[in-house]
Amino acid sequence: MKNTLIIKKIQKLFSKNHRPIFLHEPDIDAKDIENVSLALKQKKISSHASITLDFEKKLKRFTKSKYVVSTMNGTSALHLALLSLKVKSNEEILMPSLNYIASANVCLYINAVPHFIETKKNNLNIDTESLEKYLNLITKQKNKKCYNLKTKRYIRAIIVPHLFGHIYEIEKIKKISKKFNLLFIEDAAEALGSFYKKKHAGTFGDIGILSFNGNKIISSGSGGAVITNNKKFALKALKLSTIAKKKHSWKYEYDEVGFNYRLPSINAALGISQLKKINNFIKLKRDLFKKYKSFFKKENIFELLAEPKNCRSNYWLQTIIMKNNNKISDKIFKSLFLLKIFVRPIWRPLHLSNHLKRFPKMKLKNTENIAKRIINLPSSSFLIKKK
Ligand SMILES: Cc1ncc(COP(=O)(O)O)c(C=O)c1O
Repeated sequence: MKNTLIIKKIQKLFSKNHRPIFLHEPDIDAKDIENVSLALKQKKISSHASITLDFEKKLKRFTKSKYVVSTMNGTSALHLALLSLKVKSNEEILMPSLNYIASANVCLYINAVPHFIETKKNNLNIDTESLEKYLNLITKQKNKKCYNLKTKRYIRAIIVPHLFGHIYEIEKIKKISKKFNLLFIEDAAEALGSFYKKKHAGTFGDIGILSFNGNKIISSGSGGAVITNNKKFALKALKLSTIAKKKHSWKYEYDEVGFNYRLPSINAALGISQLKKINNFIKLKRDLFKKYKSFFKKENIFELLAEPKNCRSNYWLQTIIMKNNNKISDKIFKSLFLLKIFVRPIWRPLHLSNHLKRFPKMKLKNTENIAKRIINLPSSSFLIKKK
Protein backbone atom coordinates (compact mmCIF):
# COMPACT_ATOMS: atom_id res chain seq x y z
CA MET A 1 0.00 0.00 0.00
CA LYS A 2 2.74 2.43 1.03
CA ASN A 3 4.78 1.42 -1.99
CA THR A 4 1.86 2.13 -4.35
CA LEU A 5 1.45 5.55 -2.74
CA ILE A 6 5.12 6.37 -3.28
CA ILE A 7 4.94 5.29 -6.93
CA LYS A 8 1.94 7.59 -7.45
CA LYS A 9 3.65 10.53 -5.76
CA ILE A 10 6.85 10.25 -7.79
CA GLN A 11 4.92 9.62 -11.00
CA LYS A 12 2.98 12.85 -10.45
CA LEU A 13 6.23 14.80 -10.34
CA PHE A 14 7.22 14.13 -13.95
CA SER A 15 4.77 14.66 -16.78
CA LYS A 16 4.67 12.05 -19.54
CA ASN A 17 5.97 14.54 -22.13
CA HIS A 18 9.26 14.92 -20.32
CA ARG A 19 10.06 11.24 -19.88
CA PRO A 20 12.41 9.40 -19.85
CA ILE A 21 13.68 11.05 -16.70
CA PHE A 22 17.13 9.70 -15.90
CA LEU A 23 18.68 9.61 -12.45
CA HIS A 24 21.52 11.94 -13.32
CA GLU A 25 22.48 13.13 -16.80
CA PRO A 26 25.52 15.20 -17.69
CA ASP A 27 24.71 18.86 -18.44
CA ILE A 28 26.63 19.50 -21.68
CA ASP A 29 26.32 22.70 -23.72
CA ALA A 30 27.85 24.29 -26.85
CA LYS A 31 30.78 25.70 -24.84
CA ASP A 32 31.73 22.19 -23.68
CA ILE A 33 31.67 20.95 -27.27
CA GLU A 34 33.75 23.95 -28.39
CA ASN A 35 36.36 23.34 -25.68
CA VAL A 36 36.75 19.67 -26.52
CA SER A 37 36.88 20.47 -30.27
CA LEU A 38 39.64 22.99 -29.62
CA ALA A 39 41.68 20.38 -27.73
CA LEU A 40 41.26 18.03 -30.70
CA LYS A 41 42.22 20.73 -33.22
CA GLN A 42 45.32 21.55 -31.18
CA LYS A 43 46.09 17.82 -30.85
CA LYS A 44 46.20 18.29 -27.08
CA ILE A 45 44.67 14.96 -26.21
CA SER A 46 47.11 12.93 -24.12
CA SER A 47 47.90 13.20 -20.43
CA HIS A 48 51.20 14.89 -21.33
CA ALA A 49 49.47 17.89 -22.92
CA SER A 50 49.10 21.16 -21.02
CA ILE A 51 45.30 21.01 -20.59
CA THR A 52 45.71 18.32 -17.90
CA LEU A 53 47.95 20.67 -15.90
CA ASP A 54 45.54 23.52 -16.44
CA PHE A 55 42.60 21.48 -15.09
CA GLU A 56 44.64 20.56 -12.01
CA LYS A 57 45.44 24.25 -11.41
CA LYS A 58 41.77 25.18 -11.66
CA LEU A 59 40.78 22.38 -9.28
CA LYS A 60 43.42 23.61 -6.85
CA ARG A 61 41.92 27.08 -6.93
CA PHE A 62 38.36 25.79 -6.52
CA THR A 63 39.02 23.35 -3.66
CA LYS A 64 41.83 25.41 -2.08
CA SER A 65 43.85 22.21 -1.90
CA LYS A 66 47.61 22.72 -2.20
CA TYR A 67 48.14 19.79 -4.57
CA VAL A 68 45.93 18.10 -7.16
CA VAL A 69 46.88 15.07 -9.26
CA SER A 70 44.28 14.25 -11.90
CA THR A 71 43.50 10.62 -12.70
CA MET A 72 41.52 8.49 -15.16
CA ASN A 73 38.71 8.06 -12.62
CA GLY A 74 37.89 8.27 -8.92
CA THR A 75 38.71 4.60 -8.34
CA SER A 76 42.30 5.02 -9.58
CA ALA A 77 42.56 8.12 -7.37
CA LEU A 78 41.57 5.98 -4.36
CA HIS A 79 44.11 3.35 -5.36
CA LEU A 80 46.82 6.02 -5.57
CA ALA A 81 45.71 7.49 -2.23
CA LEU A 82 46.37 4.16 -0.48
CA LEU A 83 49.72 3.74 -2.23
CA SER A 84 50.81 7.32 -1.49
CA LEU A 85 50.04 6.82 2.20
CA LYS A 86 52.11 3.60 2.02
CA VAL A 87 49.33 1.35 3.25
CA LYS A 88 50.77 -2.16 3.25
CA SER A 89 49.31 -5.56 2.51
CA ASN A 90 47.53 -7.15 5.47
CA GLU A 91 46.78 -3.75 7.05
CA GLU A 92 43.15 -2.93 7.74
CA ILE A 93 41.24 0.07 6.38
CA LEU A 94 38.03 1.20 8.08
CA MET A 95 35.13 2.26 5.84
CA PRO A 96 31.36 2.30 6.14
CA SER A 97 29.64 -0.72 4.65
CA LEU A 98 26.99 1.68 3.30
CA ASN A 99 29.29 2.80 0.54
CA TYR A 100 30.22 2.60 -3.11
CA ILE A 101 32.29 -0.49 -3.94
CA ALA A 102 35.50 1.31 -5.00
CA SER A 103 36.91 1.81 -1.47
CA ALA A 104 36.75 -1.92 -0.76
CA ASN A 105 38.06 -2.93 -4.17
CA VAL A 106 41.15 -0.70 -3.98
CA CYS A 107 42.04 -2.32 -0.65
CA LEU A 108 41.99 -5.67 -2.40
CA TYR A 109 44.17 -4.30 -5.26
CA ILE A 110 46.98 -3.95 -2.68
CA ASN A 111 46.06 -6.95 -0.49
CA ALA A 112 44.93 -4.68 2.34
CA VAL A 113 41.86 -5.61 4.37
CA PRO A 114 38.58 -3.64 4.30
CA HIS A 115 37.01 -3.40 7.76
CA PHE A 116 33.36 -2.37 7.71
CA ILE A 117 31.88 0.15 10.12
CA GLU A 118 28.34 1.15 11.05
CA THR A 119 26.15 4.01 9.78
CA LYS A 120 23.66 6.04 11.84
CA LYS A 121 20.05 4.98 11.90
CA ASN A 122 18.43 7.84 10.01
CA ASN A 123 21.09 9.54 7.94
CA LEU A 124 24.22 8.74 5.96
CA ASN A 125 26.73 9.57 8.68
CA ILE A 126 29.14 7.07 10.15
CA ASP A 127 27.94 6.03 13.61
CA THR A 128 30.75 7.94 15.33
CA GLU A 129 29.71 7.04 18.89
CA SER A 130 29.62 3.29 18.19
CA LEU A 131 32.86 3.52 16.20
CA GLU A 132 34.73 5.12 19.07
CA LYS A 133 33.44 2.54 21.56
CA TYR A 134 34.29 -0.27 19.14
CA LEU A 135 37.85 0.95 18.60
CA ASN A 136 38.31 1.40 22.35
CA LEU A 137 37.26 -2.20 22.80
CA ILE A 138 39.12 -3.99 20.02
CA THR A 139 42.33 -1.97 19.60
CA LYS A 140 45.43 -0.85 21.48
CA GLN A 141 48.34 1.37 20.42
CA LYS A 142 51.40 -0.63 19.39
CA ASN A 143 54.49 0.88 17.72
CA LYS A 144 52.51 4.15 17.53
CA LYS A 145 49.92 2.45 15.36
CA CYS A 146 46.41 1.18 15.92
CA TYR A 147 46.55 -2.58 16.55
CA ASN A 148 43.48 -4.77 16.22
CA LEU A 149 43.59 -7.19 19.18
CA LYS A 150 41.04 -9.46 17.55
CA THR A 151 42.60 -9.91 14.10
CA LYS A 152 46.21 -9.20 15.15
CA ARG A 153 46.63 -6.73 12.30
CA TYR A 154 47.25 -3.00 12.21
CA ILE A 155 44.37 -0.69 11.32
CA ARG A 156 46.10 1.98 9.25
CA ALA A 157 43.42 4.27 7.87
CA ILE A 158 39.79 5.27 7.67
CA ILE A 159 38.05 6.12 4.38
CA VAL A 160 35.07 8.44 4.81
CA PRO A 161 32.77 8.91 1.80
CA HIS A 162 30.63 12.06 1.58
CA LEU A 163 27.61 10.25 0.21
CA PHE A 164 25.35 12.11 -2.22
CA GLY A 165 27.34 15.29 -1.48
CA HIS A 166 26.66 15.56 2.27
CA ILE A 167 29.50 16.07 4.76
CA TYR A 168 28.73 14.89 8.29
CA GLU A 169 30.57 15.64 11.55
CA ILE A 170 33.93 15.82 9.84
CA GLU A 171 35.68 17.36 12.85
CA LYS A 172 34.53 14.53 15.09
CA ILE A 173 35.72 11.90 12.60
CA LYS A 174 39.08 13.68 12.36
CA LYS A 175 39.35 13.62 16.15
CA ILE A 176 38.69 9.88 16.22
CA SER A 177 41.30 9.27 13.51
CA LYS A 178 43.85 11.29 15.52
CA LYS A 179 42.99 9.53 18.79
CA PHE A 180 43.54 6.09 17.28
CA ASN A 181 46.46 7.08 15.03
CA LEU A 182 44.63 6.43 11.77
CA LEU A 183 45.39 8.02 8.43
CA PHE A 184 42.31 9.86 7.21
CA ILE A 185 41.20 9.49 3.59
CA GLU A 186 38.19 11.44 2.33
CA ASP A 187 36.26 9.98 -0.56
CA ALA A 188 34.77 13.19 -1.97
CA ALA A 189 33.92 11.54 -5.32
CA GLU A 190 30.33 12.75 -4.97
CA ALA A 191 31.10 16.01 -3.17
CA LEU A 192 32.82 18.43 -5.54
CA GLY A 193 31.35 21.80 -4.56
CA SER A 194 30.32 20.69 -1.04
CA PHE A 195 31.73 22.59 1.92
CA TYR A 196 31.84 22.10 5.69
CA LYS A 197 32.18 25.41 7.53
CA LYS A 198 33.30 26.90 4.19
CA LYS A 199 36.13 24.35 3.74
CA HIS A 200 35.92 22.12 0.68
CA ALA A 201 35.19 18.38 0.88
CA GLY A 202 38.35 16.28 0.66
CA THR A 203 40.61 18.87 2.31
CA PHE A 204 40.14 17.82 5.95
CA GLY A 205 42.01 14.53 5.88
CA ASP A 206 45.54 13.47 4.95
CA ILE A 207 44.39 12.90 1.40
CA GLY A 208 41.12 13.13 -0.54
CA ILE A 209 39.77 12.04 -3.89
CA LEU A 210 37.27 13.41 -6.43
CA SER A 211 35.43 11.86 -9.38
CA PHE A 212 34.28 13.45 -12.65
CA ASN A 213 32.49 10.38 -13.91
CA GLY A 214 29.61 10.87 -16.40
CA ASN A 215 27.03 11.03 -13.61
CA LYS A 216 28.86 13.41 -11.24
CA ILE A 217 28.11 17.11 -10.64
CA ILE A 218 30.69 18.00 -13.29
CA SER A 219 31.99 15.46 -15.74
CA SER A 220 35.11 14.98 -17.81
CA GLY A 221 33.62 11.82 -19.34
CA SER A 222 35.63 9.73 -16.97
CA GLY A 223 38.05 11.31 -14.54
CA GLY A 224 39.15 11.81 -10.97
CA ALA A 225 41.75 13.48 -8.81
CA VAL A 226 43.84 13.02 -5.71
CA ILE A 227 43.81 16.17 -3.56
CA THR A 228 46.08 16.83 -0.59
CA ASN A 229 48.00 19.52 1.28
CA ASN A 230 50.91 17.12 1.81
CA LYS A 231 53.68 17.53 -0.76
CA LYS A 232 55.14 14.06 -0.18
CA PHE A 233 51.82 12.33 -0.81
CA ALA A 234 51.18 14.49 -3.88
CA LEU A 235 54.57 13.78 -5.45
CA LYS A 236 54.14 10.06 -4.84
CA ALA A 237 50.65 10.07 -6.40
CA LEU A 238 51.95 12.01 -9.41
CA LYS A 239 54.86 9.64 -9.92
CA LEU A 240 52.73 6.50 -9.62
CA SER A 241 50.08 7.95 -11.96
CA THR A 242 52.69 8.35 -14.71
CA ILE A 243 54.06 4.76 -14.66
CA ALA A 244 56.76 5.82 -12.14
CA LYS A 245 58.86 7.19 -14.99
CA LYS A 246 61.89 9.14 -13.84
CA LYS A 247 61.76 12.79 -14.92
CA HIS A 248 64.05 13.17 -17.94
CA SER A 249 63.70 14.83 -21.35
CA TRP A 250 64.42 11.76 -23.47
CA LYS A 251 65.39 8.79 -21.30
CA TYR A 252 62.79 6.18 -20.40
CA GLU A 253 63.66 4.79 -16.97
CA TYR A 254 61.39 3.49 -14.25
CA ASP A 255 62.23 2.59 -10.68
CA GLU A 256 59.09 1.04 -9.23
CA VAL A 257 55.72 -0.38 -10.25
CA GLY A 258 53.68 2.46 -11.70
CA PHE A 259 50.27 2.95 -13.28
CA ASN A 260 49.00 4.68 -16.39
CA TYR A 261 46.40 6.66 -14.45
CA ARG A 262 46.89 10.33 -15.39
CA LEU A 263 43.90 12.13 -16.92
CA PRO A 264 44.19 12.75 -20.69
CA SER A 265 43.89 16.35 -21.88
CA ILE A 266 40.87 15.53 -24.04
CA ASN A 267 38.97 14.74 -20.83
CA ALA A 268 40.55 17.66 -18.97
CA ALA A 269 39.25 20.02 -21.69
CA LEU A 270 35.68 18.97 -20.87
CA GLY A 271 36.46 19.11 -17.13
CA ILE A 272 37.66 22.73 -17.37
CA SER A 273 34.62 23.82 -19.31
CA GLN A 274 32.30 22.07 -16.82
CA LEU A 275 34.11 23.45 -13.78
CA LYS A 276 33.38 26.98 -15.00
CA LYS A 277 29.68 26.22 -14.55
CA ILE A 278 29.80 24.41 -11.22
CA ASN A 279 28.32 27.23 -9.16
CA ASN A 280 25.31 27.32 -11.42
CA PHE A 281 24.96 23.50 -11.25
CA ILE A 282 25.03 23.69 -7.45
CA LYS A 283 22.43 26.43 -7.43
CA LEU A 284 20.14 24.42 -9.70
CA LYS A 285 20.55 21.33 -7.54
CA ARG A 286 19.84 23.26 -4.37
CA ASP A 287 16.74 24.70 -6.05
CA LEU A 288 15.71 21.19 -7.07
CA PHE A 289 15.95 20.15 -3.41
CA LYS A 290 13.66 23.07 -2.46
CA LYS A 291 11.23 22.08 -5.15
CA TYR A 292 11.10 18.45 -3.98
CA LYS A 293 10.77 19.74 -0.42
CA SER A 294 7.78 21.86 -1.20
CA PHE A 295 6.21 19.02 -3.19
CA PHE A 296 6.63 16.58 -0.28
CA LYS A 297 5.64 19.19 2.34
CA LYS A 298 2.85 17.16 3.89
CA GLU A 299 4.63 13.87 3.52
CA ASN A 300 4.65 11.50 6.50
CA ILE A 301 5.77 8.16 5.02
CA PHE A 302 9.27 9.32 4.19
CA GLU A 303 11.59 12.29 4.61
CA LEU A 304 13.64 14.14 2.04
CA LEU A 305 17.28 14.13 3.13
CA ALA A 306 18.53 17.67 3.86
CA GLU A 307 22.15 18.83 4.16
CA PRO A 308 23.60 18.23 7.65
CA LYS A 309 24.49 20.95 10.15
CA ASN A 310 27.51 23.07 9.09
CA CYS A 311 27.53 21.53 5.59
CA ARG A 312 26.69 23.38 2.40
CA SER A 313 25.97 20.43 0.15
CA ASN A 314 26.13 20.19 -3.62
CA TYR A 315 23.00 17.96 -3.34
CA TRP A 316 24.49 15.64 -5.93
CA LEU A 317 21.74 13.03 -5.55
CA GLN A 318 18.39 13.85 -3.99
CA THR A 319 17.42 11.21 -1.46
CA ILE A 320 14.34 10.08 0.38
CA ILE A 321 14.44 7.87 3.45
CA MET A 322 11.41 5.88 4.58
CA LYS A 323 10.28 6.58 8.13
CA ASN A 324 9.43 4.11 10.90
CA ASN A 325 11.53 1.23 9.59
CA ASN A 326 9.28 0.88 6.54
CA LYS A 327 11.10 -1.00 3.80
CA ILE A 328 11.01 -0.22 0.11
CA SER A 329 9.98 -3.01 -2.22
CA ASP A 330 11.42 -3.73 -5.66
CA LYS A 331 7.96 -2.95 -7.00
CA ILE A 332 8.72 0.78 -6.72
CA PHE A 333 11.81 0.57 -8.90
CA LYS A 334 10.20 -1.78 -11.39
CA SER A 335 6.98 0.24 -11.80
CA LEU A 336 8.83 3.55 -12.15
CA PHE A 337 11.31 1.92 -14.55
CA LEU A 338 8.38 0.91 -16.76
CA LEU A 339 7.09 4.49 -16.60
CA LYS A 340 10.57 5.65 -17.67
CA ILE A 341 11.28 7.43 -14.38
CA PHE A 342 14.65 6.16 -13.23
CA VAL A 343 14.95 6.23 -9.46
CA ARG A 344 17.33 3.86 -7.71
CA PRO A 345 18.01 2.17 -4.37
CA ILE A 346 21.27 2.74 -2.53
CA TRP A 347 24.04 0.15 -3.07
CA ARG A 348 23.77 -3.16 -1.26
CA PRO A 349 25.92 -2.85 1.89
CA LEU A 350 29.45 -3.92 1.03
CA HIS A 351 29.75 -6.63 3.69
CA LEU A 352 26.96 -8.55 1.94
CA SER A 353 28.88 -8.84 -1.35
CA ASN A 354 30.28 -12.31 -1.97
CA HIS A 355 33.87 -11.18 -2.33
CA LEU A 356 33.71 -9.03 0.83
CA LYS A 357 31.81 -11.28 3.25
CA ARG A 358 34.89 -12.63 4.94
CA PHE A 359 36.30 -9.30 6.14
CA PRO A 360 36.06 -7.86 9.69
CA LYS A 361 33.08 -5.72 10.61
CA MET A 362 31.22 -3.98 13.39
CA LYS A 363 27.61 -4.89 14.13
CA LEU A 364 25.88 -3.44 11.06
CA LYS A 365 22.26 -3.41 12.12
CA ASN A 366 21.56 0.21 11.12
CA THR A 367 23.41 -0.23 7.83
CA GLU A 368 21.27 -3.19 6.80
CA ASN A 369 18.14 -1.38 7.92
CA ILE A 370 18.70 2.02 6.29
CA ALA A 371 19.90 0.44 3.02
CA LYS A 372 16.34 -0.90 2.57
CA ARG A 373 14.76 2.51 3.19
CA ILE A 374 16.54 4.76 0.68
CA ILE A 375 15.46 5.95 -2.77
CA ASN A 376 17.50 8.35 -4.91
CA LEU A 377 15.30 10.64 -6.97
CA PRO A 378 16.09 12.06 -10.42
CA SER A 379 18.70 14.75 -9.75
CA SER A 380 20.04 16.19 -13.03
CA SER A 381 20.93 19.85 -12.67
CA PHE A 382 18.71 20.88 -15.58
CA LEU A 383 15.67 18.98 -14.34
CA ILE A 384 14.22 22.06 -12.80
CA LYS A 385 14.55 24.05 -16.03
CA LYS A 386 12.75 21.36 -18.03
CA LYS A 387 9.54 21.47 -16.00
C1 LIG B 1 31.55 7.44 -3.26
C2 LIG B 1 32.28 7.08 -4.52
N1 LIG B 1 33.58 6.75 -4.45
C3 LIG B 1 34.30 6.46 -5.53
C4 LIG B 1 33.74 6.46 -6.79
C5 LIG B 1 34.58 6.07 -7.94
O1 LIG B 1 34.64 7.01 -8.94
P1 LIG B 1 34.81 6.58 -10.48
O2 LIG B 1 33.49 6.07 -10.94
O3 LIG B 1 35.20 7.85 -11.15
O4 LIG B 1 35.88 5.54 -10.53
C6 LIG B 1 32.37 6.78 -6.91
C7 LIG B 1 31.67 6.80 -8.16
O5 LIG B 1 31.52 6.69 -9.14
C8 LIG B 1 31.63 7.10 -5.76
O6 LIG B 1 30.33 7.41 -5.85
